[in-house]
Amino acid sequence: MKFDEKYGIKSFKKVLSVVDVLATLRSGNRIIKITDDTLVTSLAKETARKHNITLIKKGEEMRRKIIAGNWKMHKTLKEAVDLAGNLKERASQFPSDREVVICPPFTALSVVGEVIKGSPVKLGAQNTFWEEKGAYTGEVSPPMLKDAGCQYVIIGHSERRQYFGETNYSVNKKMKKVLESGLTPIVCVGEKLQEREDGKTLSIIEEQVREGMEGLSTEEASGLVVAYEPVWAIGTGKTATPQQAEEVHDFIRKKIRELYGEEVANNLPILYGGSIKPQNIASLMECANIDGGLVGGASLELESFSQIINY
Ligand code: 13P
Repeated sequence: MKFDEKYGIKSFKKVLSVVDVLATLRSGNRIIKITDDTLVTSLAKETARKHNITLIKKGEEMRRKIIAGNWKMHKTLKEAVDLAGNLKERASQFPSDREVVICPPFTALSVVGEVIKGSPVKLGAQNTFWEEKGAYTGEVSPPMLKDAGCQYVIIGHSERRQYFGETNYSVNKKMKKVLESGLTPIVCVGEKLQEREDGKTLSIIEEQVREGMEGLSTEEASGLVVAYEPVWAIGTGKTATPQQAEEVHDFIRKKIRELYGEEVANNLPILYGGSIKPQNIASLMECANIDGGLVGGASLELESFSQIINY
């Protein structure tokens, strides 16, 4: 920014107009980065405010906050469409600094994608395979998910590890294909109760992070979201305390820093998952390294999920 001494006028290198804001709105994004050299027209400001778009100055960027609902094996098509439609209606009331993602079962992806089109609510899948197409009965590939409107895919959920033979190796293979397809993986890690009681929490997490991300380039790693879900907290009503969760989140960020450097680590959203409720989300979100939530049961109802988003 320059200040003309004679005329007392600031000169700007860039102008952010209402056209830019509307283009951002159409793309589904709700954050616009500006610099000190950007002149934001008053109409652009007003339009951004009206549509809940946040203008963030470079250098003041925060990690993105994500609240994702994992619907697991729930909801018929009608139920899915109803919930997605109601969420879309509420979306203008959600704070603009958090991204909302819903992950219905495969059967409902495409209809839910249609329902939330043009709204800030984003679509994610709960699993995928690492091949693009072929004779793999029962599987769905990342390009197919993209075609159905997904931007996110959950990978390595503990229920997939527990019941369907998912391993760090398969997580790694899936992650590479998902990134290559332009989707964002939400990679789940977490220890079992016995592992925690045996004092193995951090070594298990380290192994899951290291093996799951093996061979990823720095650029690829910068496209990840990680979710810490202690297995003993999932669906049990037993949430990790903010201290327990923060210890692991901080550890994950340190590992990512070791593997991929400061920038990737600082920008990586790490979500907590496991019995998140409207009553416990705020205290979890106060922790320095908790950037959002992966919500199971409480994401199945409009009221509880909205309250969590609005924590
Ligand atoms: P609950 O919120 O039902 O405990 O489930 C958490 C989870 O597994 C989200 O992926």
